[in-house]
Amino acid sequence: MDQHLTALVNAHLATPIDQGHPLSGREQGKVLLMPNATILLQNGRIEAVLGGDEQIPTHAETIDLKGNLVTPGLVDPHTHLIHGGSREYEIPLKLKGASYMDIHLAGGGINSTVQATRQASEEELIERALVELQGMLEQGVTTVECKSGYGLNTETELKMMRAAAEANLRQPIDLIQTFMGAHSVPVDMKSNPDGYIDYLINEMIPLVADTKLANFCDVFCEKGVFDIEQTERILLAAQQHGFKLKMHADEIVSIGGAELAAKLQIVSADHLMAISEQGILDMAEAATIAVLLPGTSFYLGKSYAPARRMIEAGVPIALASDFNPGSCPSANFQFIMNLGYLYLRMYPQEVLTACTLNAAYAVDEAAEVGSIEVGKKADLVVWDARNLAYLMYRFGKNHVQYVWKDGRRVI
Ligand code: NIG
Ligand code: FE
Repeated sequence: MDQHLTALVNAHLATPIDQGHPLSGREQGKVLLMPNATILLQNGRIEAVLGGDEQIPTHAETIDLKGNLVTPGLVDPHTHLIHGGSREYEIPLKLKGASYMDIHLAGGGINSTVQATRQASEEELIERALVELQGMLEQGVTTVECKSGYGLNTETELKMMRAAAEANLRQPIDLIQTFMGAHSVPVDMKSNPDGYIDYLINEMIPLVADTKLANFCDVFCEKGVFDIEQTERILLAAQQHGFKLKMHADEIVSIGGAELAAKLQIVSADHLMAISEQGILDMAEAATIAVLLPGTSFYLGKSYAPARRMIEAGVPIALASDFNPGSCPSANFQFIMNLGYLYLRMYPQEVLTACTLNAAYAVDEAAEVGSIEVGKKADLVVWDARNLAYLMYRFGKNHVQYVWKDGRRVI
């Protein structure tokens, strides 16, 4: 056991406080602000948080943070990190008037990334992921959710998940995996979507469950992709095999995705740009986490999810990058925070909770990360900023000064 004790002194601490459930309504914006705090780290965990006038153990190694802001390491709870290729050629199509769905339904979009991912070797996928993960770490992100879903056959779905598992081992960020074989119906089964769903339910889900590569299962529930009935079938089958559940819901058209997420009491419903008022009420009642992805609204030129209305109704909100090659080709989580502040109209404290504690709940990791509290992992970001609002107002600059992951300084 490493008994080395580190004391981060003169920290301007900002952290949500874990109360055993995701924070919603007014609680979403309640953040502990402690100027002149000392944070003690030992064995990769938070050992203590002390006020400025409390005695620091004399054997501790002391690091002076000079009054800079310290937050929990950021948690990005929705990414499509592992993929082959890129889709810059779609932008000219969009400039000519094609929408995201037009491109998808014409066999481009996700399907073109499926081809590129099938062609990529496992090592190529790992190497690319490592580059992106290093960029995420530099942004202050210490936990990342990562979906499969660009294979749409057993072989490539497993290749993606093995690549993520290996990338998890080769660098500091913790990866949480989600199986998303229901990202799209593959082109060669377009005429038989229910046949693909049978294949998912009878073959892929049981097989992936056996590998234990993924804890979650996610479905792209959307008009033209998987409808409500199909989504429910897939999610219930996944649940029977022990998966925790997520949905891409009401991203483009409101088809009752949020209502289904609440009915099934799944962990999170993500996107929700087109959520109905009933969906908001149902999610609040079920305490389903809304994972909002403002980078996708920005990149697709779509409206932003009604975050203020959700907070007012009591829906807990997390924010994520949705990093993927088609609808948000950026993993810049600080930009997501800027968009949360400016376009989701969330206050800085609400944004912080959304990117830390609530995001940790969205990947079921809140027992370990998401707040700076005794016993949790020592995952911390020191910012070159004096307060939260500055961080979220001054966009386009990386404000990270230092990052600690599992008690080790990695940036
Ligand atoms: O979350 N909406 C579906 N899936 C991704 C986009 C995937 C892609 O276009 O490659 C998303 O936006
Ligand atoms: Fe997504």
